Amino acid sequence: MKSDLLVHSAAQLLTAPAGSAPLRGSDLDRPLVLEDAAVACGGGAVLAVGPTREILARYPEREAATVLDARGQVVAPGFVDSHTHLPFAGTREMEFEARARGESYEAIAARGGGIRASMRELRATTEDALAEAVAHRLARLLAQGTTTVEAKSGYGLALEEEQKQLRALRRAADRSAAEVIPTFLGAHEFPDEYRDRREAFVSLIAEEMIPAIAREKLARFCDVFCDRGVYTVEQSRRILLAGRAHGLQPKLHADELADVGAASLAAELHAVSADHLLHASPAGLSALAAAEVVAVLLPGTAFTLGLPYARGRIMIEMGLPVALATDFNPGSTMSSSMSMAMTLAVTQMKLTPGEAWMAATANAACAVGEGARLGRLHPGFQADLVLYDAADFRHMAYHYAEEHVARVVKRGTLVHERHAGLRCT
Ligand code: NIG
Ligand code: FE
Repeated sequence: MKSDLLVHSAAQLLTAPAGSAPLRGSDLDRPLVLEDAAVACGGGAVLAVGPTREILARYPEREAATVLDARGQVVAPGFVDSHTHLPFAGTREMEFEARARGESYEAIAARGGGIRASMRELRATTEDALAEAVAHRLARLLAQGTTTVEAKSGYGLALEEEQKQLRALRRAADRSAAEVIPTFLGAHEFPDEYRDRREAFVSLIAEEMIPAIAREKLARFCDVFCDRGVYTVEQSRRILLAGRAHGLQPKLHADELADVGAASLAAELHAVSADHLLHASPAGLSALAAAEVVAVLLPGTAFTLGLPYARGRIMIEMGLPVALATDFNPGSTMSSSMSMAMTLAVTQMKLTPGEAWMAATANAACAVGEGARLGRLHPGFQADLVLYDAADFRHMAYHYAEEHVARVVKRGTLVHERHAGLRCT
């Protein structure tokens, strides 16, 4: 096959070694770094990766439709952001200020703010307006190097409203080069009308919402906020089993605010991922390691809320497959920057830059069940890659809160280029 897109002369090409299983233990700190490297892409996939001289001999420049000279640049797989709440309406800067004045995230939620504040905004927004907002967010995250994003519902908290959220997401995704993986999170909170009848809302989710969402193929995963003050382990189990019976694989917001045993539930159900884990017990973490559930670290949340960080270093040493994501949402993490998540993982959780990269690409793909298709640059993987204006892969976490993305390629097509003159180094 001829190459239709050729990237050559990269100062460094960074990827996980060949394979599709999540990286664990010391393997996480062994990224493959090739110098003066090239990638040939064809039919939307990677055809070959290797030294520039070798690749250009096999795939001559004159035969490629697009040739990108990556001199002085790093080439890496596009980020897979495996945990976001992307289709939200309105913002919550008043809560950001309230926390600065000493009020906690849970206290704000208890007085009707938090997720229920976003629910009111969502319900007051049309599907068209929401699709428009999501399309803008997708363009922004693509420009920051994220080529695939998982996105959850959970601000509708009523069937038609959850459907509206997921339909808006689908419409925006259809117009975007970014790839969207949708998750149904009807069990994100209890809406006002069910606060004193929680079991009835759980039944509504399990018996009505999940079948309808699955019928319309609006989601691939089912998630539950299993934590203090929201869904109990028993309620979460019932919802996730109902989801699985309808073809929605389980994911879990686990032990973010307190240790309620959610990590063990994720292990019991062999969830695709268990996310947050700030307060997960050692027993819960061991259960996750034994069940090979991907642990998704979301350091932006601890950073924003001023909470203690999840013990990422210990999790890696325990053998957990660890991934890194943003948790982008208007309450606990108003950022879709994966490079900022890497910075926090390195400075606050003591992951090495190499580990952070593997957690944000290869392992992140595994956190959305796509470890054999996304997150690595090897023949057969989807050609999702990013060129950065830096000659060393550590730069993106180290030189933080700046944008280093120069060009973004999705399915072998150039979909984003930095404005000329905006180079940051
Ligand atoms: O992952 N923990 C639950 N959900 C989000 C927060 C959502 C919100 O506050 O709007 C999270 O942090
Ligand atoms: Fe979340």
